[in-house]
Amino acid sequence: MNLELHGRVALITGAARGVGARIAARFAAHGALVYAADIDANAKLRLDVRDRAGVHAAVEQIERESGGLDILVNNAGLLANGAFDATTGEAWDDLVAVNLTGAYNCVQAAVPAMRRRGKGSIINIASVSHEKGGGAFGNVWYGATKAGVVAMTKGLARELGPLGIRVNAIAPAVVATAMVRSLLTPEAQERIVARIPLGRLAEEDDVARLAVFLASDFSDFITGDTIAVDGGFLRT
Ligand SMILES: NC(=O)c1ccc[n+]([C@@H]2O[C@H](COP(=O)([O-])OP(=O)(O)OC[C@H]3O[C@@H](n4cnc5c(N)ncnc54)[C@H](O)[C@@H]3O)[C@@H](O)[C@H]2O)c1
Repeated sequence: MNLELHGRVALITGAARGVGARIAARFAAHGALVYAADIDANAKLRLDVRDRAGVHAAVEQIERESGGLDILVNNAGLLANGAFDATTGEAWDDLVAVNLTGAYNCVQAAVPAMRRRGKGSIINIASVSHEKGGGAFGNVWYGATKAGVVAMTKGLARELGPLGIRVNAIAPAVVATAMVRSLLTPEAQERIVARIPLGRLAEEDDVARLAVFLASDFSDFITGDTIAVDGGFLRT
């Protein structure tokens, strides 16, 4: 048993940039056949996770081309910032549609394929804000969607465990993606880092390495859990 993903087929959503792109690169480096899906026109697999029929068609395509699906990473996500009244109704609808309904659509499409394989690993990208209801980065509404993702993770783990399918979530603190760097003022970054015992923001690869572990057989007795990648922010 090791961290190898040779022979595994993985679907990663929101993988054109940021955390998802890094997870895709890591999975490929560990030997997986990776379908990096994104709504972005430049994505290798063009996919809007809100489009239920499109998600089912993508999983069918993956099974047809590759013989199965072993790993799903629900990474596509939108962020909302500011006070509770800073998020418009339209922005809330978008947040729910991508962060929650998108994950729902992908799970519903992927599980029958994993069932046919007799095993699988689903990894949901949540956020430390699931526990705090927003806060450092991401507001109450973002936190609420991520709390939904964590609830999904637990319930699915219970129901899918007997089928050999594990379901876990990763809860990163602020990840220093290009996007985040462009949004964070040096003062805001300093404020956030001051609350992190390990003294830095998360890097995309911090998340990607945990995703490799959760996808691999090294974690084969771990399910239903949400693991923070936060330099000690939540637990200290
Ligand atoms: N960056 C952070 O600080 C941070 C912290 C905690 C959790 N997260 C979570 O990590 C995940 C990735 O975040 P990121 O910072 O890399 O974000 P990002 O915005 O850089 O990348 C998200 C990707 O998702 C894609 N996407 C958006 N809507 C989509 C849709 N409907 N269908 C398919 N793809 C879609 C985008 O095109 C983009 O490529 C998200 O779930 C986010 O909530 C990020």
